[in-house]
Amino acid sequence: MTEKYKWFASTPIGIEDIGAQEINEITGCSTTIEMGKIFFEGPLDAMYLLNYYARTINRVYLSLARGVFNDLRDIYHEAKSIDYTTIIPAESTFAVRCERAGSHEFTSLDVARVVGQAVIDSYYEATGRRLKVNLETPDVEIHVFIRDNDFLIGVNTTGEALHKRKYRVFDHPAALKTTLAAAMLRIAGYNGEPLLDPLCGGGTIVIEAAHKSRKTPIFLFRKEYLFSKLKIHDSLLEDLVKKKLLSEMNRDLYEITCMDISVKSIEGARRNAESALVLDTIKFKIGDAARIESYTGVEAELIVTNPPYGIRSHNLKKIEGFYKDLLKTWRDRYPGIKAVVITASTKQFENAVLATNVEIKSTRFVMHGGLPARIYLVKT
Ligand SMILES: C[S@@+](CC[C@H](N)C(=O)[O-])C[C@H]1O[C@@H](n2cnc3c(N)ncnc32)[C@H](O)[C@@H]1O
Repeated sequence: MTEKYKWFASTPIGIEDIGAQEINEITGCSTTIEMGKIFFEGPLDAMYLLNYYARTINRVYLSLARGVFNDLRDIYHEAKSIDYTTIIPAESTFAVRCERAGSHEFTSLDVARVVGQAVIDSYYEATGRRLKVNLETPDVEIHVFIRDNDFLIGVNTTGEALHKRKYRVFDHPAALKTTLAAAMLRIAGYNGEPLLDPLCGGGTIVIEAAHKSRKTPIFLFRKEYLFSKLKIHDSLLEDLVKKKLLSEMNRDLYEITCMDISVKSIEGARRNAESALVLDTIKFKIGDAARIESYTGVEAELIVTNPPYGIRSHNLKKIEGFYKDLLKTWRDRYPGIKAVVITASTKQFENAVLATNVEIKSTRFVMHGGLPARIYLVKT
């Protein structure tokens, strides 16, 4: 029988349910969610499938322990009781990272130090070998998550977060996280129909859309994953998963258009699309998204976009007017279609919705980097 492992994945806060749905679709595993985390059990190929193909999660962790604690000694004992010999090769280096939420008498560094000692002690007792620590570029990364009195310990199988797709050659200063772009496409129900991002910046949303339609695996761009350093790694199984994903990919052409008022952004979006292998299926247009004539000849059944937030206070009044112009233009040009918009200027967006008689179908809170924002699904 295939061995089952306990896993958890991290997501941006606010899209846990979407990440869970994606994990279920890709692996068939059932999931439970908590803030920023998705828990599931499944075979080893789930680790490869998700690291190579999931678009709305950040990291996949092999779960080692979870529970409650009173003080650092409890965490030490829990961490020491784990068998690391089946996971960490004896010649590897390791590091412990800690993320902490809640008020405690200790710091995240204290936790990392205590768990690091527990790993060394446990491994030494079992094998007589002392694992080496490397805080900069460890082979194995153990993550400890503390929230109030709950702890969760896992091994990072991913390395750098998956939102770093590694195709970007142009960095837009206000780029959207790829994971949120992918979540917005799921909220829109995008399934290959004509799609438009009229404020596209470096093209994150349209590139995600093209990758989704073409079933493009992320390993075409991302080469480094930490799972390759773990004892559980099975390179034959990894190859099978890679071959399966490559065989499912297509090079079909989809109707995807992106527009921006800035020539520099459009040039950047074009370069990103080329690097992401989707230049042939995206149309690029320089234009003002708030003017109806910019949309001449642009086919769209869905709009998914990340407009400027106008975050400085003297711009907020202006941004409300800009949002009104956008919504009115979309309503007149593409009546009755779905538009998915992310913004941190929620009051301004909601005022613009009221003023233009478009309908909010759903809305959700998300964290975009460190910024609280909302994703809206509206009907024009
Ligand atoms: C938040 S950024 C989009 C970032 C993009 N999602 C990415 O990941 O790179 C907003 C974009 O809207 C563009 N923009 C601002 N006003 C515009 C207008 N009137 N028409 C079209 N684009 C506009 C800006 O040039 C900027 O590139």
